[in-house]
Amino acid sequence: MTTSAKDHWSAEKYSSAADFVPKLTTTVLSYLDVQPGDHILDIGCGDGQLTVQIAASASSGQVLGLDASQSFISTAREKYSSRNCNFELHDCTHLDQYPNAVDGSWDKVFSNAALHWILRNPGTRVHVFRDAHRALKPGGKLVFEMGGKGNVAEVQAAFTAALVHAGLSLEAAREAKPWFFPSVEWMSRTLSEVGFEVEKCELEYRPTKCSPENTDGSGGLVGWLRLMGAQFLEAVGEDKREAVLKEVCEILETVVTREEDGSKWLGYTRLRAVARKQ
Ligand SMILES: C[S@@+](CC[C@H](N)C(=O)[O-])C[C@H]1O[C@@H](n2cnc3c(N)ncnc32)[C@H](O)[C@@H]1O
Repeated sequence: MTTSAKDHWSAEKYSSAADFVPKLTTTVLSYLDVQPGDHILDIGCGDGQLTVQIAASASSGQVLGLDASQSFISTAREKYSSRNCNFELHDCTHLDQYPNAVDGSWDKVFSNAALHWILRNPGTRVHVFRDAHRALKPGGKLVFEMGGKGNVAEVQAAFTAALVHAGLSLEAAREAKPWFFPSVEWMSRTLSEVGFEVEKCELEYRPTKCSPENTDGSGGLVGWLRLMGAQFLEAVGEDKREAVLKEVCEILETVVTREEDGSKWLGYTRLRAVARKQ
């Protein structure tokens, strides 16, 4: 299944503005506990750098990375495709439309830093977990990390204010938010309701340092806002976007900056879960 949504991603911008995302994964990878021979589906695999790491541990197994970004999938294929590691373009809000994805053959379904995008639409939210459940073998497990309730709350508040100042209604500014950051309570209940046994569901406040800013504006806080907040910016006409971005940076300046060294930290709150198909 191809995707019609605009592709905001590029491996180059991702590595400048958010190279920490696939690296800060020690805990979720320990929960995944990859075994040789595992068949693993990676939902929202991005540029594939984490997927290929998983595939190396799965050795004789198979890992399939699915992502809705053509740019990321092209990069992943070019750099990391191998006998046991493959990548396909697919919108994971409809996992059941990918051939054999929900055939009950997978040992593990994995996702890092992607489900808060994939679950954005309330209409397809619960289906994603139903499909993940159908994808797994009995005894198989779903393991993921994503933004949880309160994640980058300062960014959300700053974008909402700047969009209202740019002329949007409060409702339209709120609607521009591209993510869903659920609570532990919502997540545990939803996973149980679709038939999982929830082994872990936890929230961690993990302030995360912005990457260094590049002269071309690609890294740092501003690069992060351009990449991750693209949908907020697209809520206004092109002529207003730089002004919105500037105002967001100004609102955030003292909120995210550590006075002792000037470094900028975003208030990442991560939700991790391990859920088993009985
Ligand atoms: C922050 S990146 C994380 C990528 C990778 N998992 C990692 O850890 O580096 C979020 C990813 O979610 C993907 N994504 C967002 N919505 C999606 C959807 N509906 N279906 C599939 N992938 C989606 C994006 O294309 C992007 O690659």
